[in-house]
Amino acid sequence: MKIAPSILSADFANLKEDIKKAQEGGADWIHVDSMDGHFVPNLTFGANVVKAIRPHIDLPIDCHLMVENPGYLIQDFAEAGADYISVHFESTPHVHRALQLIKSFDVKAGIVINPSTPVSLLEDILYMVDMVLVMTVNPGYGGQSFITETLTKIKMLDKWKKEKGYDFLIEVDGGINPRTIKECADAGANVFVAGSYVFNAPEPKERIEALKNAVREGA
Ligand code: DX5
Ligand code: ZN
Repeated sequence: MKIAPSILSADFANLKEDIKKAQEGGADWIHVDSMDGHFVPNLTFGANVVKAIRPHIDLPIDCHLMVENPGYLIQDFAEAGADYISVHFESTPHVHRALQLIKSFDVKAGIVINPSTPVSLLEDILYMVDMVLVMTVNPGYGGQSFITETLTKIKMLDKWKKEKGYDFLIEVDGGINPRTIKECADAGANVFVAGSYVFNAPEPKERIEALKNAVREGA
């Protein structure tokens, strides 16, 4: 199990301190949400922020690109120090090329699907991905409610992994709290992004521990 706090809900004026708190609080990865104001109706930051935080983090940096035609950004994110780069299935007609490009920089490649995208559309690219990110909210903002119907997709991916011997990670993102994390873990997810639940608290450590405990309970 990996907990990946999303810096989208961190205090941007104190980003270094917030990341440090997450890291010392037991975070396994740091999740970076890059949004272009076109693919999603919100604008955040790009590879320059990854480059700025890289020297202050010992953990893998997990970059979630919510941008149209993300190919032009992949080299920048790779050179900035990304460990995982994930692109949306809906963001380009050239998903295969984008995944190949990510891998050409020796970076782990992830594919992301929105809540309305059928998981069956991923079947032909599963052999080449290191991770599938199932959006459990519509991308664009932190603090939204978990969409329960997305659990079906996690279960389907977990089934294909077992049937076909794939070893990609299954990540979930959006509305993750101690209740929803347990549901996702039971369905087969193993990487959990949490933004507002971790950072909208004085002590991210307590929140990260609560998430980990929720998965372990009854496991
Ligand atoms: C949403 C982002 C998420 C966001 C999750 O588009 O991809 O990573 O930070 O935030 P919470 O955990 O608050 O739903
Ligand atoms: Zn994200």
